[in-house]
Amino acid sequence: MAQSAQAATQQSQIPKPSTEAPIQQAAQPAVQQPTPPAAPAAPGTKEHPFLEANDLKPENCVKCHAEVQKGKSVHTALSSGCDTCHQAASANGKTTMTDTATGGDLCAMCHEMEKGPVLHAPYKAGECLACHDPHSSDYPKETLARANTLCFTCHAVNQPGVTVQGDMKTVSVLGGQTISLEEYQKAIKIALDRNGATGHPVMGHPMSGKVPGKKDMTLSCLSCHAPHSSALPNLMPPGVKTDVELCGQCHD
Ligand code: HEC
Ligand code: HEC
Ligand code: HEC
Ligand code: HEC
Ligand code: HEC
Ligand code: HEC
Ligand code: HEC
Repeated sequence: MAQSAQAATQQSQIPKPSTEAPIQQAAQPAVQQPTPPAAPAAPGTKEHPFLEANDLKPENCVKCHAEVQKGKSVHTALSSGCDTCHQAASANGKTTMTDTATGGDLCAMCHEMEKGPVLHAPYKAGECLACHDPHSSDYPKETLARANTLCFTCHAVNQPGVTVQGDMKTVSVLGGQTISLEEYQKAIKIALDRNGATGHPVMGHPMSGKVPGKKDMTLSCLSCHAPHSSALPNLMPPGVKTDVELCGQCHD
């Protein structure tokens, strides 16, 4: 399963940390020192602009990559250091970055995986980055967009930020996460009314906005679905045993 998070050609409108000027200005002096030979390339190893071996300290990383800490929600894992997830090595004038683990395995180093019995396909596949930024974002729980935008990427057609690479049979979704075209096509596209804003789960039903009589409640996909796993089909949210019970949360 393709799960490389290579950025590249995304046309996402999601705010993406910018990596502009500061990085170029921070170029290192080109003094090379003898360094031990590099370990053989592991999966998830990428070349990095050259850094001296003694500049590889985690506290230096944010001098060039300040954007990873910006946003209304910042992943607590950053406080354990960049090297928890990115292992930097410099040798023979080359620097490489190796992810400690790939896909969902990286996240599973610290997060216990939900067991189901019903598991959401991208969660099960370890495609955490289809919905989360590993560092920070402006949305709750480091998600890449507000809930409905996030869910619409795979469950509605013609969404911004979604690009089909037909020849490679892959689809790049928010944040540059790549999923297989097969998975994208499997994701049921929900029926919507002509206005695109209502129509699910029943005709005329809104999917956003306030819920009359329920202060502090805002309607979204997450009002009726869990994002990762559920005890019931259709990813019904925790505490709900039947569709009727779900409806009863807002309707008498
Ligand atoms: C002197 C500036 C500088 C420092 C210091 C620096 N980086 Fe980078 N880093 C860059 C540039 C430039 C790129 C390539 C452009 C980009 O993708 O942002 C990059 C790319 C990366 C990438 C993406 C790799 C890829 O090929 O997709 C990772 C991950 C990364 N850096 C992690 C780190 C970590 C961890 C540290 C600390 C050990 C670090 N960087 C220190 C400048 C720097
Ligand atoms: C919880 C794990 C984790 C931690 C901690 C972490 N990263 Fe990352 N980072 C990732 C993942 C996953 C990716 C996307 C896959 C890849 O390209 O390696 C990524 C990608 C990057 C990239 C490529 C550009 C981008 O934003 O996608 C840069 C640069 C980067 N990380 C820098 C850092 C720096 C600097 C730190 C420390 C302040 C850090 N990361 C801490 C998991 C982490
Ligand atoms: C080094 C350990 C570590 C790794 C690796 C890690 N996390 Fe976390 N993560 C944490 C800690 C610690 C918290 C905060 C504890 C909590 O609130 O439960 C957290 C919280 C979160 C949250 C909730 C954020 C919030 O604001 O409450 C999300 C979402 C998350 N992690 C996603 C991920 C994803 C996706 C990955 C893989 C790319 C990942 N984590 C990898 C340690 C880690
Ligand atoms: C389909 C989108 C999606 C995928 C895929 C996804 N998540 Fe989430 N995740 C969410 C959303 C949305 C929330 C916030 C739920 C909320 O606010 O109630 C969340 C919340 C979290 C939290 C915080 C949990 C809490 O109870 O506060 C963690 C940790 C997390 N995700 C980790 C992961 C990991 C690890 C993966 C991959 C194995 C993953 N997520 C895959 C959408 C997703
Ligand atoms: C008011 C509650 C509610 C909201 C809000 C809601 N859903 Fe649903 N959804 C349901 C119910 C009930 C079902 C099961 C009955 C059905 O298939 O329509 C369902 C089924 C689904 C299915 C499976 C469809 C199928 O045909 O098997 C998907 C996919 C889905 N919802 C996605 C979404 C997305 C994406 C959003 C947000 C844009 C969303 N839902 C918002 C209640 C809701
Ligand atoms: C990266 C693509 C992707 C994203 C983003 C995504 N989904 Fe899904 N979703 C899928 C796929 C693939 C399936 C499984 C289709 C199948 O195999 O039957 C699925 C299935 C579902 C189902 C039916 C589950 C079942 O097995 O009964 C619901 C409900 C659903 N998604 C809701 C959501 C919600 C809510 C969000 C946003 C939090 C969301 N999806 C975001 C890809 C996605
Ligand atoms: C999280 C809250 C919430 C849940 C759960 C919910 N609804 Fe609604 N529903 C609303 C809101 C808000 C409206 C629009 C205002 C109103 O009519 O009260 C609405 C409106 C409706 C309407 C009228 C639609 C129209 O054409 O005006 C129907 C029918 C309906 N809901 C059925 C259901 C059913 C069936 C379920 C369970 C599958 C359900 N609702 C679950 C919040 C909810």
